[in-house]
Amino acid sequence: MVKKMELLYEGKAKKVYATNQENVLWIQYKDSATAFNGEKKATISGKGRLNNEITSLLFSKLHSVGIDNHFIEKLSETEQLVKKVTIIPLEVVVRNYVAGSLAKRLGLSEGTRLEKTLIEFYYKNDDLGDPLLLEDHIAILKLATSEQIAILKESALKVNEILTQHFQACHVRLIDFKLEFGFDSEGKILLADEISPDTCRLWDMDTNEKLDKDVFRRDLGNLTDAYEIIFQRLGGRSECT
Ligand code: C5P
Repeated sequence: MVKKMELLYEGKAKKVYATNQENVLWIQYKDSATAFNGEKKATISGKGRLNNEITSLLFSKLHSVGIDNHFIEKLSETEQLVKKVTIIPLEVVVRNYVAGSLAKRLGLSEGTRLEKTLIEFYYKNDDLGDPLLLEDHIAILKLATSEQIAILKESALKVNEILTQHFQACHVRLIDFKLEFGFDSEGKILLADEISPDTCRLWDMDTNEKLDKDVFRRDLGNLTDAYEIIFQRLGGRSECT
């Protein structure tokens, strides 16, 4: 039996606890929502449950198709066990359509399909506001070697292929998303963190209704209603067709 031990870290969306097993962490998803590097904050009841449920479903799906990741098992509505990894301080962003900061930076219209999937790296550093990095910047900062960057890109593209199809079957368009990776106890690169409507842009296939954190960022309505739709379509309550 895995036992929850001391609190190791409290982030914006999760609490991380040690366990009685050396390489296993106990994650508790919180009901807090933040955006714009923590400038906008709110407590949204039910958000932690939905992100834990959705992340568990998506990481299990990725496991089932052979994409290794840190997820071990869901413990409760808001808790899960994961393998301990040392997180690489890079946000790997995968984009299929123009949205968010890409629309702003390049002056392109939101919703434009990208001819080729775009992968970007951002530096996980709150003080610097998570800046966009070139691969040469990653080398200067010694965050990853070029071989490791190649592994991150290949893995991100594989995840994109699987998740794009999976969401498509649920009438959801995967616009973009962010992944994080870490080194496990054997030094192997493992997909980690979460994959949820907090970290993805998800639009209804027919109406383009936003079913992700943009609902909170842009005050578009009720966040948990949107996340609940994603959970249900992924099979949470009723199977998608
Ligand atoms: O804001 P931007 O357009 O760069 O975000 C791209 C994708 O990465 C979005 O799906 C967003 O939710 C996700 N993201 C994230 N955490 C961040 C920055 C972006 O999950 N710190």
